[in-house]
Amino acid sequence: MEQYIVKGGNPLVGEVVISGAKNAALGILAAAIMADEPVLVSNLPDVNDVNVLLEAISQTGASVDRRDRHTARINGVGIRSCVVNNSYIKKMRASYYLLGAMLGKYHHAEVALPGGCNIGSRPIDQHLKGFSALGAVGRIQNGMIIVDAKRLAGARIYFDKVSVGATINVMLAACLAEGRTILENVAKEPHVVDVANLLNAMGANIKGAGTDVIRIDGVEKLHGADYSVIPDQIEAGTYMFAAAATKGDITVRNVIPKHLDCLTSKLREIGCEISEFDDAVRVVCKKRLRCTSVNTMPYPGFPTDMQPQMVVILSLAEGTSIVTESIFENRFRYVGELTRMGANVRVEGSNIAIINGIHQLSGAQVSVPDLRAGAALVLAALAADGITVLEDIEYIKRGYEDFVEKLSSLGGVIETVDSEKEISKFRLKAVSM
Ligand code: EPZ
Repeated sequence: MEQYIVKGGNPLVGEVVISGAKNAALGILAAAIMADEPVLVSNLPDVNDVNVLLEAISQTGASVDRRDRHTARINGVGIRSCVVNNSYIKKMRASYYLLGAMLGKYHHAEVALPGGCNIGSRPIDQHLKGFSALGAVGRIQNGMIIVDAKRLAGARIYFDKVSVGATINVMLAACLAEGRTILENVAKEPHVVDVANLLNAMGANIKGAGTDVIRIDGVEKLHGADYSVIPDQIEAGTYMFAAAATKGDITVRNVIPKHLDCLTSKLREIGCEISEFDDAVRVVCKKRLRCTSVNTMPYPGFPTDMQPQMVVILSLAEGTSIVTESIFENRFRYVGELTRMGANVRVEGSNIAIINGIHQLSGAQVSVPDLRAGAALVLAALAADGITVLEDIEYIKRGYEDFVEKLSSLGGVIETVDSEKEISKFRLKAVSM
């Protein structure tokens, strides 16, 4: 099994180019199958979740022409099966976007119950509530979610919980429903807006994405389009926090600074210097950071997907910080691993972490429990004294393109290893560094 091995202690310095947003790309690829004409999607991140979804799309009979590493041309004209079920798709979350896309287009879909990172119970009741309001009947049978509708008609739907997945999924189906759909209490994340922008480029009539209420006037069919995915807000945030963790100086390029506002504000508050440019942000950290309190919230609040990275930098800050996880109930599973590196973090209940900052983390053998926690543990390893070996890194590969290469280009000492021999070789090399 592949592992990462990291020798910490180097400040990360330089420039890094951010890839396309994974969570936008997943919604966009599902939307692309709704036309019977080619949809050319560029700026796709080359990460496992995207590649698995592309594979699932091609298994439905849609054509998937991978033009290059970051561009795919999808044509939904050849779809012959509305059943999506393979061993990989069960491990990812966003497979459920094929439900909304196929329900809208064919009034029928069967998709394996979604897996994804184990960060809480992650129900899909709000997705089903939305489909049902549009006229579909949903059921779970033999590990599959099956949705069927004779016809889909627009409806007014109030989501009881702000959900990125439910907002995108119901928006997909409603594009091809008859009449007007009003979605209330929706998610406002940049990737919700990005999926809506693609759908509009395909001929849909969606207004209000990015606000609390989305209005969709159904159209008869969607057509082809060319579309470029927005930059990944969470990948960008992870490198910004890498500068903070290692007392470095990193310019993240190809970003939309507005999407990073809440991260920028928090980093400034705890003592980082930040300069914003048209499509770049520079983070400089020269001194020990200060403690703070953070509460994860739907966008534009502090993202749950940056919570573990925040805990890592606060574990090295001066004083006591409090981080409250309000979105997922089981998102502190990595704290045990971080404490193996010397951090002084206590989880109270299941959703509050109390962090007493220490001066230095130390390398250890740790295991990665989920994608963002994995990225955070890599930041901890880069900041730590000594060598860290990280197991179960396949989680990280789901969402970070060229993570090792990008960190290495910033001066991080990190390699992917596959055997004890390679680990020993790295350790020997590290002694002379
Ligand atoms: C998306 O997950 C992202 N995944 C997650 O990123 C991200 O953490 C999350 O949004 C929040 O921003 C993808 O886009 C593929 P939600 P999603 O529906 O859509 C509850 C990553 O690391 N809820 O917004 O599954 C739910 O339990 C991943 O890239 C219901 O109760 O999240 C949670 O408490 C991890 N019923 C809250 O809403 C529902 O029907 C928000 O979940 C749906 C959700």
